[in-house]
Amino acid sequence: MDKARVAVLISGRGSNMAALIYAGRADDCPYEVVLVSGDKPDALGLSLAAAEGVRVARLDARALGADYWEKLNRQLAQAKVDLIALAGFMKIIPVSFVDKWAGRIVNIHPSLLPKYKGLHTQMKALDNGDRVSGATVHLVTSELDSGEILGQVEVAILPSDTAESLEDRVLIAEHQLYPRILARYASRPYDAAWIEQQVDALAARLPEVIRKSNHGAPGWGVGNEKAAKNFAIMADHFHGEESVGLLVRASGPDEMNGLIEAQPEIYFWPKYYGASGWLGIRLSRRDVDWDQVADWLERSWRSSAPPRLTKLMRIADQF
Ligand code: GRF
Repeated sequence: MDKARVAVLISGRGSNMAALIYAGRADDCPYEVVLVSGDKPDALGLSLAAAEGVRVARLDARALGADYWEKLNRQLAQAKVDLIALAGFMKIIPVSFVDKWAGRIVNIHPSLLPKYKGLHTQMKALDNGDRVSGATVHLVTSELDSGEILGQVEVAILPSDTAESLEDRVLIAEHQLYPRILARYASRPYDAAWIEQQVDALAARLPEVIRKSNHGAPGWGVGNEKAAKNFAIMADHFHGEESVGLLVRASGPDEMNGLIEAQPEIYFWPKYYGASGWLGIRLSRRDVDWDQVADWLERSWRSSAPPRLTKLMRIADQF
């Protein structure tokens, strides 16, 4: 598995950033921190990152004004970043940036979300007489502290706690939670079960689709239970292949050879199945274009569906 290339964005001391950098150095960690940046050019954590030999982009959001996000995007592109981890990054992110990086920005928040979004979370927990506080790693969406929760850790509240003492203890928990959850998220594109779920969600959008395995491999068929014909089959490390793939019906060997020659990182000729027009698409990659997979599924569905269904589809196409 390629290590995911992570950029950490900070505004302050960067203790979570440090935890992410150190964990990322382990050989078996599925990510590495390749860039640290933020909105304040003199943030303390930037000097630490530089001393640790991590590339640093010192950007001044105030001075750059409207150009800031474009400059940051340029830095992220230059460093070939796959994922962005926010760690005490205090700037509100515009929708255009969130959309561009949809599903690829994570954040750590010092509360058990959805409780206590925003600032002063430990004070709020104490004021409410809570028995536990904690931290959450979540995906970033355009709504503050509201994206999908990827992982949480609870931290007990002691009767003697002040907001500061509780913050200190939650921070210890944060430093352990963040690298662990980021590692899990970074390896998700290679997880066969997760890949199958994505394909299943796309296949289920097509008419009269049922699950239909093929020689023991998970697959999808179209038509009723008895007569259903496979239009997609999972190919997990298929006969010596290194990737988790999906088999779909192509038009024939000419098209298949053309695609495989042009994009061998995406397409492959599946053993045994290739001769009957099945094309392999590698899905255990970080840059899978799921819209393209959806198009392949639809094409494959059309060439497998009974005429009564394809006729309806053709009529729908005209509108
Ligand atoms: C942490 O408490 C984190 O949960 C919050 O901001 C703080 C950042 O601290 N988002 P540090 O800069 O990582 O030390």
